[in-house]
This record gives sequence, structure tokens and C-alpha cells, in this order.
Amino acid sequence: MVRWRDEVPTSGGVDLPPDARSMDGLGRNHSLDTALADLVDNSVDAGATEILVRIVRSAGRLRSLYVVDNGSGIAPETIDDAMTLGGQREYRTGDLGRFGIGLKAASFSQARSLTLLSRDQRGLAVGRRWELSHQQSGFICGVVPENFAAGELDREWNLPQGTGITVVRWDEVTGFPATDDPARIEEYISRTLAQIRQHLGLVMHRLLAAHRMKIWVEVEEAETGECGSRFCVSPIDPFGYTRTGKSGWPKTLVGQVEGLTLSMRCHIWPGRSQLPEFNLPGGADSRQGLYFYRNGRLLHAGGWEGIHASDRRLRLARVEIDIEDDTIGLFKMNPEKSKVSVGPQFSYLCEEACAADDTTLADYLQVAETVFRDSKKRTMRRRRMIPPGRGFTPSLKEAINLEIPLLEDQDPINIRWTPFADESFFRIDRDNHTLWLNDRYRAILLSGRRGGLNDMPILKTLLYITMEDLFQGEYLGPKDKDNLEIWQKLLTVAAQGEKP
Ligand SMILES: Nc1ncnc2c1ncn2[C@@H]1O[C@H](COP(=O)(O)OP(=O)(O)OP(=O)(O)O)[C@@H](O)[C@H]1O
Ligand SMILES: [Mg+2]
Repeated sequence: MVRWRDEVPTSGGVDLPPDARSMDGLGRNHSLDTALADLVDNSVDAGATEILVRIVRSAGRLRSLYVVDNGSGIAPETIDDAMTLGGQREYRTGDLGRFGIGLKAASFSQARSLTLLSRDQRGLAVGRRWELSHQQSGFICGVVPENFAAGELDREWNLPQGTGITVVRWDEVTGFPATDDPARIEEYISRTLAQIRQHLGLVMHRLLAAHRMKIWVEVEEAETGECGSRFCVSPIDPFGYTRTGKSGWPKTLVGQVEGLTLSMRCHIWPGRSQLPEFNLPGGADSRQGLYFYRNGRLLHAGGWEGIHASDRRLRLARVEIDIEDDTIGLFKMNPEKSKVSVGPQFSYLCEEACAADDTTLADYLQVAETVFRDSKKRTMRRRRMIPPGRGFTPSLKEAINLEIPLLEDQDPINIRWTPFADESFFRIDRDNHTLWLNDRYRAILLSGRRGGLNDMPILKTLLYITMEDLFQGEYLGPKDKDNLEIWQKLLTVAAQGEKP
């Protein structure tokens, strides 16, 4: 019998450079948002104060994507390292970079071609280009001529001057729609820009709030060189409630086992919050749980990582954890920097963890659940109302749904505009469950804005609150009729007063 041996011997070695095909397999866990966050990480490490994400449309199609920053730039001697897979550099404490693959993996997850152009404080323009379709002949990276690199760097990026400038350009972006249908392109642009702003706003929220940098997104029309509106990325703080859900919270719980320390800041959101910081993409329920940060950048947003199952009653519980680099047995982040996996020691530390007043994690979850239950109870004591129907924005309907117990068996109330023969402001139509508004006041009240089915949410909310109960019951009582008369008179005078 051959016994197991501790060491495996080798004799000599063979050089096995990776096949260029391997580049195609990089970053497969990325989405457009997480890939862009990886490029933004590089800009932050380069000390950029302004970062621009620009999509270029040419002949009706989306063609390229740029990430431009005014950071330190890249020296001609180091640009080859920057384009090398696993290229090494000295990392300083606080740097977001770590593996030497982010730029390449993020880019090839989204595009068939990556061009890196840069100019550092010495003023020399350099450029390199990786093209996936040209990689059959090995790892040969294209050298971009200096005049082309300088031309790209000198385009109108409208960023304030920094020490240098770096342009990352993606061509043949695989996620761009393969169409020039203007409606589909517009739909893609508005959805994508919103997603990018959401994701970057979330993962970079601490750095944005600390004014380390600004991030912008825009679309350029290649034929004219003009850009549409430039949108700013605003911080979205997943702990950004205005009032805590329970006094005395958040609390910091600390666990220590065998030389490892885990510090968790346990927060409780107030019930039924409408803030976008609470209603993160994916839904508030999937956003309960642990939030891991490394050097001020959010890596992982929600989920209990095995210490508890996701539970509707725990939707107000969010825990902030700052990690440094991987700690064996405790944390490991994925190279896409979009997820932290916890090791076996993590659950021990969670069990051990307690606050200065001896509160444990189990106590915390219990309190979070109680706050959730109490907030539900408060809602259930409220008067039931008829649900809103047509004329209300989806977010308004959702808010009403969350705040008010609704009479689900009743037909919803619509608020609609229609031409009236007279001057009166509104008409109650109980048969059709509709509150009609006089079309002649619509343009004045919109004062130049575009109208639509769901226009003027504030006016409609006020009318819904005031008049909803007039749609309940068999008939209108004398008090209701009198109220209607007063409101009609006042609102008609007020609407006429809006006339310029
Ligand atoms: N915008 C930029 N400005 C200046 N230097 C950059 C920029 N982008 C990339 N670099 C250089 O290229 C190198 C490689 O970037 P890449 O993202 O591939 O790896 P990394 O940031 O070192 O590590 P990680 O894989 O964790 O992201 C960086 O270390 C940096 O030196
Ligand atoms: Mg990087």
C-alpha cells in the first residue's frame, strides 16, 4: 500500500503561458453595473475627483462606452503593467485595487475590445488596446499611436483639470441593443443610466458623501459631438434613515474568537419607510442582512450569509460590517468585488458577539422583528380606504398600499381629466368610480410641463385623501353634500386664480 505523503515532489519545470482564450472567460460574474464599479475603483485609487461614464451613439446605434477620470494618469513605463493580467503594483493602505485583474475582467465581461489611454503629470499620451477577436495569435497587446491617444484624451470631456487623465474605452459592447430602433434605444438608455446611477450611488455612497469624488453619466451623439443631459450619481446610503426604528439603536456588537475580531453595527430601520435608501433594487426583503464595506466601498449589500434565513419580519434589520483584506476562515471577497463569502469562523463570532450592554445578535433580531410587527399593527388600526385606480403613479399607489389598509373588494377610484361644459373644478361620478377634473385648468396647473395619465401626483393625493370616503356607502349624506359644495366653490376659485 502506498501511504499518503505530506509533500509532492517535482523535478524540473515547463513554461506554460496561458492561452489567450482564457481572457474571454474573465469576469463572468459581472453585470454592466458591477463592471463599471470596478473601473470607478481604479479611478478612485488614482485620486480622481471627477469620473465620467459616457455612452456614444452613432448612426442611431450605441457603439462605445467610456470611463474617463482626472486622476493621476498612467506613466508610459507602467501602462503595460496596467494591461497585464495580474499585473503587480504597490498597493497603499486604503486602495480598492488588489488582484491586478479588475480592469481586464470588468472590460471583457462587457466588451470585445478594451482601449486604455492615459496621460500623467509629465504630459505624455500613451495607449494600449486588447481585442478579444485578435487573440488567436497569443497575448499581443496593441500599441495605440501617440497622436490617436492624444486625440482621445483631448476630446471634450468637460472635467476639471486634475494631475492627469485616463480614458478607458470599450467597443463592441455585448449588452448594447443590436438595433437602431430609436424607441428601443431610448428605453435602453434611460433604464441603463438609471441602473448605473443606482448601483454606483449605492456601492460608492460613503466615498461620494465624503466628497472624495463626483461621478457623472451621459450619452454623446457622435455625429454632432453633443451630449444630452449629464446626470450626477448621488449617494444612496442603505443606513440613511432620518430617524431610527427604535431608540437606543444602532448598537455595535463585537465578537472575539481565537484572535479574530468581528465588529457589527446593527441598525433598525423605521417601519414602512418610503426612502429609496430603504427600497433598494431587488426589494427591501432581499436587502435585509449584512452589508460589507472595504476601504469605504460597499462590496456586498444584504443577505444573512447563513446566520439566519431571510424573513419578511426581519426586513428592518441591516448590519454594517467593515472588513479589511481577506481573513482566513472569516471573510473572502470575490475578484469582481461584488460579494463577500464568510468562512466557518464567522458564525462562531456572531454567536459570541455582544454590545457593551450585553445585547446579542439574537436579541437584535428579536427587537427588529418586534419593531416590524408594531409598525404593521399601527397600519391595521387605520381607517380602511378604497384603493386608488387610474391616474395615480405606480409609486404613489405602492405608498398608499403600504400605509393604508385597503378595501380590496371595492372598485378602485380613478382621477381623470375631461372637458367640462362649465367652470367647476371637479365632478364626482360614483357610478364610474371616477373623480373627473375639468380639462380647462390642466395646462395652467401644469405650467408648461407635459401632462400624462399620471400627472400632478400632489393634487391627486390631496383629492384622494379628501374625497375618497364620498365613494363609500350607498348614498351621500347632507354633511357630504355640504362639504362637496364648499370644496367645489373653493377649488374652482383657486383654479381660476392660477390663470396667468
Ligand atoms: N483610471 C486609472 N488611473 C490610473 N491608473 C489606472 C487606472 N485604471 C487602472 N490603472 C492601473 O492599472 C492597474 C491595473 O488595474 P486593475 O483594475 O486591472 O487591477 P488593480 O486595480 O490593481 O486590482 P483589482 O483586480 O483588485 O482591481 C492598476 O493597479 C493601476 O495601476
Ligand atoms: Mg482595479
